[in-house]
Amino acid sequence: MNSKIISIGSYIPSNTVTNKDLEKTVDTTDEWIVSRTGIKQRPIADSSQATSDLAFEAAMTAIERAKIEKNDIDLIIVGTCTPDVATPNVGTLIQKRLGLSNFPAFSIEAACSGFIYALNIADKFIKTGESKCALVVGAETLSRITNWDDRNTCILFADGAGAAILKPTDDKGIIFSELGANGEYADLLHVPYGTSRKPEKSSKDDYFLRMSGNEVFKVAVKTLEEIAIDALKKSNIQSKDVDWFIPHQANVRIIQAVAKRLELPEEKVILSMDIHGNTSAASIPLAFDRAVQDGRIKKGDTILMQSFGAGFTWGSVLLEL
Ligand code: UT7
Repeated sequence: MNSKIISIGSYIPSNTVTNKDLEKTVDTTDEWIVSRTGIKQRPIADSSQATSDLAFEAAMTAIERAKIEKNDIDLIIVGTCTPDVATPNVGTLIQKRLGLSNFPAFSIEAACSGFIYALNIADKFIKTGESKCALVVGAETLSRITNWDDRNTCILFADGAGAAILKPTDDKGIIFSELGANGEYADLLHVPYGTSRKPEKSSKDDYFLRMSGNEVFKVAVKTLEEIAIDALKKSNIQSKDVDWFIPHQANVRIIQAVAKRLELPEEKVILSMDIHGNTSAASIPLAFDRAVQDGRIKKGDTILMQSFGAGFTWGSVLLEL
């Protein structure tokens, strides 16, 4: 028994912060941001919206497009590093808003790899027969843990959500999926303090994301090249047979380096950081949905997805839609 994505949905807040807007608040330029990252604008949630609100909207769209009844869902997994509150988890918050109960609903903390981690776990639930219809979400409000005075990070991060419905299939569906992590790199991209670890003297900056961008960049390229080649090799699929490459949307230069190594032409690479920024766990389903809605990705296509994020965590999923 394999699992298959039968629909995808997404949601981005209507409020957009452009590079020109950021020129007014930090020492940066539109030209620098576009050339170094590929980002032109980023959706930012309004103060009334929490992660579960974004996640719920994306989930509702995915459910409608799947043409299933809400009651068919028997598993919810949410990848997020910006949950509404410490507890209850975002999975149960969505479960409640959907009017559902009595099945597993939980969140995965794997930063930018959250959606790929959640997909991998849902695939295993379906393969073992424990789930017949899973809702998998990647959702973030990174704006809440971003220091808007720090030009190293505030130009990158954004808010949004993407969701997928998975069902069992006799077709190929998810062909290959593998996860990885290395905690040695924890300090290169992290929020120093939070729910349980507290500073002796608190300052607002202690609760914001900090990143050694250049060092993250180098490990990201190396790791993403390795796991992409590995995914193809282990699935016995050649890169020319991949129809679409949907990587985590952190930096266009990282993506171009990996695509070049895989000899994938740029027409096969799905980019969405131009309008979405880096939405961490939401970035892959947001890019995925954009390319389904504009007609590029179609049923039967072979898709390679891969993520890399804080932890470091990483993962890949190769599937036939
Ligand atoms: O999503 C999870 C994983 N995250 C990633 O994969 C992110 C990986 N890292 C990156 O994407 C890039 O490292 C950044 C986009 C964060 C930074 O790009 P970079 O090309 O690595 O820049 P840099 O940090 O090496 O800085 C180059 C120069 C520096 O000036 P000097 O020392 O050369 O004079 C920085 O001070 O650019 C300067 N700089 C800026 N200039 C204008 C740094 N940030 C900015 C800015 N605007 N926002």
